[in-house]
Amino acid sequence: MTTPPIAAAHQRLLIVDFGSQVTQLIARRLRELNVYCEIHPFNAVDEAFLDGFAPQAVILSGGPASVTAPDSPRAPQRLFEMGVPVLGICYGQQAMMVQLGGAVEAGHHAEFGRAFVVPAEGHRNDGIFAGLFDGGREQVWMSHGDRVTALAPGFEVIGTSPNAPFAMIADEARRFYAVQFHPEVHHTPNGRRMLENFVRLAGFTGDWTMAAYRDEAIRLIREQVGDGKVICGLSGGVDSSVAAVLIHEAIGERLTCVFVDHGLMRLNEADQVVSMFRDHYNIPLIHADEGDLFLGALTGVSDPEVKRKTIGRLFIDVFQKHAAEVGGAEFLAQGTLYPDVIESVSFSGGPSVTIKSHHNVGGLPEKMGMKLVEPLRELFKDEVRALGRELGLPESFIGRHPFPGPGLAIRCPGEVTPEKLDILRRADAVFIDQIHRHGLYDAIWQAFVALLPVRTVGVMGDSRTYDYACALRAVTSVDGMTADYYPFTHEFLGETATRIINEVRGINRVTYDITSKPPGTIEWE
Ligand code: XMP
Repeated sequence: MTTPPIAAAHQRLLIVDFGSQVTQLIARRLRELNVYCEIHPFNAVDEAFLDGFAPQAVILSGGPASVTAPDSPRAPQRLFEMGVPVLGICYGQQAMMVQLGGAVEAGHHAEFGRAFVVPAEGHRNDGIFAGLFDGGREQVWMSHGDRVTALAPGFEVIGTSPNAPFAMIADEARRFYAVQFHPEVHHTPNGRRMLENFVRLAGFTGDWTMAAYRDEAIRLIREQVGDGKVICGLSGGVDSSVAAVLIHEAIGERLTCVFVDHGLMRLNEADQVVSMFRDHYNIPLIHADEGDLFLGALTGVSDPEVKRKTIGRLFIDVFQKHAAEVGGAEFLAQGTLYPDVIESVSFSGGPSVTIKSHHNVGGLPEKMGMKLVEPLRELFKDEVRALGRELGLPESFIGRHPFPGPGLAIRCPGEVTPEKLDILRRADAVFIDQIHRHGLYDAIWQAFVALLPVRTVGVMGDSRTYDYACALRAVTSVDGMTADYYPFTHEFLGETATRIINEVRGINRVTYDITSKPPGTIEWE
């Protein structure tokens, strides 16, 4: 059993997923409006599910299929008989039309990207369209090939675009609304307003706040754990830190944290984690100082995948060894987030290629036969940050850039040695200090130095040097899936290079990595 859902105590909105690339954004926008919502694939939403979930409103997402194709996805008909407001987006609009008696045709002009919707004759500027068309037209983001050609009975047209005569439609009596464009993306500037109108009209009061979440999560953790003991793997990252502090508030000393220090952390990072949890929060903490073990196992290893697998395997062994010291713990806490839980609909089928073997504590629960405590399962990353603030975690911790499980090993292409790690740590600290000094930290998703496995010739003073080259990496990103390099000024780059070469012995050349992802990845290995 995992932690029971907190959602049960809140108003709930259901998002039926037809497989759009941007379905998660619908959920993001709604959570920003303090509305609790869940995404479920269309083929998992049957009558029993609808009765159990009892949504107060439903949104049908977009999707890649064509409603004109045989066996294309549909929403359960029951959904339209529950008396709750429904909003159909793109494919969701088309499914709604064919299911309610309208028509959709394929083969019209496809419309992708920016478009403008103008009000239809006799349109009303109220309901979910309140506040729209103030400037005469609305910029929206379209992505469709098919389009609605006949409205279902009861619907009227509110707005049209050149290629979508039924761009915005409504059946006010049943509170059914549908749009051909995507209100959830930033390129539809008034989309958020539409979604807000929709949830207000559906009676949502905005009862999903982090203060309420904190109290309920604490109550549920107590209920689940009873008198039991919990262990939690701390990485120093935001998710596991917030989970640990929350669980500690719930059950106090019966939580023990295990921090596996693999010797691949950044400068002073291990000390910061230990002092924050042990000294500041008084959370019982086992500091597993296992740098020698990891570095020993990495000796002579230069293949990135072998490095990752070696670290992942040792991590689990070490964690298990120290968890056993706690004695009698039957619960394992994990900082699993909602994006890890969402079961997205895949139309492509088949497992995707492994680019890198990501390392986290996944796989541990099965191995250890423990029950899971996952108090963040219902949250997105920025909600975790908000919860962290609610729990009083310092801003410096909450806003930290992500740091990968295998640590500096994957920022040191080639064999990892203590000497290289020492150089890398010091260069990285200078780069991050520069970013802070220039007030750029929060504008950057992630920044670090990679130490290159090449030595180059330089001249310092009157002497020849033959030292390592390094690469600076700094990217902007929304979710780490795609990324772009950060456009530092030449002055910033020049100043940083000078500081690194002057302050870090062992480096005599600095480069800036300007590869985006794709085709690059954020980390070098
Ligand atoms: P890449 O290099 O794949 O990284 O573009 C995307 C994001 O994931 C982080 N990353 C990891 N995080 N375990 C983690 O917890 C890992 O093994 C791992 N590898 C990469 C990376 O730092 C970036 O934020």
